[in-house]
Amino acid sequence: MTILVSGGAGFIGGNFVLDWLRQGDERVINLDKLTYAGNLDTLRGLNGDNRHVFVHGDIGDRGLVDTLLATHQPRAVINFAAESHVDRSIHGPGDFIQTNVVGTFNLLEAVRGHWDGLPGDEKPAFRFLHVSTDEVYGTLSKDDAPFNELNRYEPNSPYSASKAASDHLVRAWHHTYGLPVLTTNCSNNYGPYHFPEKLIPLVILNALSGKNLPIYGDGQQIRDWLYVRDHCSAIRRVLEAGRVGETYNVGGWNEKPNLDVVHTICAILDELRPKADGTRYRDQIAFVKDRPGHDRRYAIDARKLERELGWKPEETFETGIRKTIEWYLGNQDWVQNVTSGAYREWVGKQYEVQL
Ligand SMILES: NC(=O)c1ccc[n+]([C@@H]2O[C@H](COP(=O)([O-])OP(=O)(O)OC[C@H]3O[C@@H](n4cnc5c(N)ncnc54)[C@H](O)[C@@H]3O)[C@@H](O)[C@H]2O)c1
Repeated sequence: MTILVSGGAGFIGGNFVLDWLRQGDERVINLDKLTYAGNLDTLRGLNGDNRHVFVHGDIGDRGLVDTLLATHQPRAVINFAAESHVDRSIHGPGDFIQTNVVGTFNLLEAVRGHWDGLPGDEKPAFRFLHVSTDEVYGTLSKDDAPFNELNRYEPNSPYSASKAASDHLVRAWHHTYGLPVLTTNCSNNYGPYHFPEKLIPLVILNALSGKNLPIYGDGQQIRDWLYVRDHCSAIRRVLEAGRVGETYNVGGWNEKPNLDVVHTICAILDELRPKADGTRYRDQIAFVKDRPGHDRRYAIDARKLERELGWKPEETFETGIRKTIEWYLGNQDWVQNVTSGAYREWVGKQYEVQL
């Protein structure tokens, strides 16, 4: 048996591929364009492992996706491929529309063609799982109930609008063509192998290198943090037992203002890696101008996933953030490769591109 994962060299996709192959031997075809966010160094441990086939390519390349589906006959496709950084979407939304909307459309069409041709017993068992975000629901005020699956879509950034559009396409491909889809909408992830443009890895790495810890606005934007391996276990569970055509919200029950997150990281670093001059890491905090249209609060009601599929996160924020910081401290070579840009040289060097 085989699954096809797109975007499996990114933060969540990379963790998913590693976890998947830690749990079993089902082969993974990993299609990734290797944008700046794709990092084959994350998958270094799979070098030479024939359960993992890396393919350098674009979900928007219909010929390539058709060939991969025909050659490898996956029983499921899991779509992680996306442009994923809100700030980048504000400065240049074009790539977000291209990959998140047009790319997902292309993938759906290729998968539909493949699924249509499957023999009778394989057709109902096939799955297309689309990995999406809680940001499609817009923003909450302090006293609003967390987002559940019935909340209206009210995306506020080019990123979330492009993900919302992709969710709608996935939904329509089920209702119109019967494609057996599943969608997950997850809150903010953190954990190992996170590209240091996002808050948590940025703060850890800036703190260690003596730089400012930039906080947007007043730092009171609330996010519901989920340890990435909990997200991976939720996706595996939804793939295994989710009801076709349904969406599942995935969250950590860990709402925290950004400033609290940064204070927690600083306190753990003070303990694990105290500064030689005796000052505290939180002294490096610098407030910067807020992001335009910055959503104030996200929170996920993940009870449907718990009720229907028995999934709950294993990590609290306190346990997950400590593991994350320990990982960054213990994996300085990965960090060096990212911060120096050397990780880009892994393309075509460590992996043969193969169909
Ligand atoms: N990071 C989060 O907190 C979070 C939370 C909820 C949902 N999500 C969603 O999960 C998915 C993965 O997020 P992430 O944080 O790992 O993102 P990421 O930016 O770290 O990784 C995205 C990966 O997709 C690849 N990619 C981009 N365009 C591609 C294309 N056209 N064809 C093939 N590959 C392409 C990149 O090279 C990269 O490896 C995204 O769909 C994102 O919207 C992320």
